Amino acid sequence: MLTRRDLLKMGLLAGGSAMLPLEQALGRNLLRLPGGGNGGSPATTPFLRSLPLPATVQPVAAFSTRCATPGGTVFYEIHEKEGLHSFHPDLPPATVWGYQDVNAPNAPLTPGPTFIGRVNVPAVARFVNDLPTAPRSFGVPNTTVHRHGGFQEDLSDGIPTLFFRPGESYDYCWPNSNPDNDPREGESTLWYHDHLVDFTAQNVYRGLAGFHLMFDDVDSGNENDPNPNALRLPSGDFDVPMVVQDKLFAGNGELVYDSFSHNGFLGDKFCVNGAIQPFFSVKQRKYRFRFLNGSNARFFEFFLSNGRSFVQIGADDNLLPHPITRTSIRIAPAERIDVVLDFNGIPTGTAIFLENRLQQTSGRGPDRVVSHGTQVLKFIVDGPAADPSQVPNNLRELPPINPGAVTVQRRFEFARSHGGWVVNGEFFDPNRVLARPRLGVPEIWTLKNGGGGWFHPIHIHLESHRILTRNGRIPPAWEQGRKDTVVLNPSEEVRIYIEFRQFAGQYVFHCHNIEHEDVAMMGRFDTIL
Ligand code: C2O
Ligand code: CU
Ligand code: CU
Repeated sequence: MLTRRDLLKMGLLAGGSAMLPLEQALGRNLLRLPGGGNGGSPATTPFLRSLPLPATVQPVAAFSTRCATPGGTVFYEIHEKEGLHSFHPDLPPATVWGYQDVNAPNAPLTPGPTFIGRVNVPAVARFVNDLPTAPRSFGVPNTTVHRHGGFQEDLSDGIPTLFFRPGESYDYCWPNSNPDNDPREGESTLWYHDHLVDFTAQNVYRGLAGFHLMFDDVDSGNENDPNPNALRLPSGDFDVPMVVQDKLFAGNGELVYDSFSHNGFLGDKFCVNGAIQPFFSVKQRKYRFRFLNGSNARFFEFFLSNGRSFVQIGADDNLLPHPITRTSIRIAPAERIDVVLDFNGIPTGTAIFLENRLQQTSGRGPDRVVSHGTQVLKFIVDGPAADPSQVPNNLRELPPINPGAVTVQRRFEFARSHGGWVVNGEFFDPNRVLARPRLGVPEIWTLKNGGGGWFHPIHIHLESHRILTRNGRIPPAWEQGRKDTVVLNPSEEVRIYIEFRQFAGQYVFHCHNIEHEDVAMMGRFDTIL
């Protein structure tokens, strides 16, 4: 099968009409809306439906697998399926692809069920591809699963070309450990999603994404934890992951996607956990909200309608060393922002809106913050509840780094070229290795935005990194923690510190504007012994 990348190489993707052969070559149809363009989704009444809360993945009995399974290993079985999903009561259901726990065959498909990982408890996740082979308006049913933020061998990292087809399955070995067994590296908010070469954008937009949370003795998931090391952050019903995604709908309720939106596809409806503009009833106490921007190309900047601030406790996979109070939170595709909001003292019945005030009209990136945005979610304060949780001033200490001792430096430029997207002038080629970092040797990478006004959220697999400078300056406090995705604003240059320590093998780094990733702003690096 000809891939988009092959066609790019052959120069077929240069201009508008030259794109038609691609669609024919792939045997798929663009869903065209009346009026020729993306005419806009049908109107929907906001805040009719309560926020969906994805269920937790439940273990299954041990099975034989290629993964190592030391005592205590937990086993999971997830099926990738097509089904109908209601994004809003005003719309007919849409055809989605998603993940389903074999133990919960009637659960919503998207977002997928939430994995709960525990440090030093290895897991084996078997993903079974039950997707249809018949062509759909978009989506390609070969899949490979990447646990974003996860520390795992390459064969379990969702290598984009290592996909499995309908009728096949694949086992992912997740050790849930870190090489130095350092509690300062305990992780919190990860996610998993499809990573099919050239078609990740379509498949994620179709629904193939979910959360993976990690807990340890510090971030223990128990606000009553008697262990003096435990942070006792809000937990259980008061620890709520929220994936925010923009979608576009046709009049018949189906999802609309433009397979030629190489600049970055935008929707006009904002979904939280698979529901358009839901409401969420909260008690008069503290909550932990883990925001994930699961959009293909849209950035958000959230404000609270009552003017209150967010207390940010984490960024990407990791807790910050100290909580940070912020009046707004900007979040790029694939980033995670972990916050605590306290509804204590707010009268019962009060409505508070989570508002996105970041205007964005193209895949290029956000335009500006406006004074009135879109209300994405309505909190309704709903009476008292006990609150044994706390937000300590010291969260998780950062492991030390030593940039002065670095001897290996690399430079990567992310730019537009030939109607597509390149790293150091080249489209992704799974056989070309852009870097061979040696395990145990820290490096400094300079990530440079090639310009043109584009934004590129760059994600590096395997190890978290630390941002040393952004345009020569120390980054703000919320960017000083361990990150896995770093935004390159237009023309910016960011220097990061990264050390790969375990797992020699092949990995990728790429823009997480997923349309950019697919055509083909991605590079392979091989970690070596
Ligand atoms: Cu979240 Cu390589 O991706
Ligand atoms: Cu990743
Ligand atoms: Cu990009």
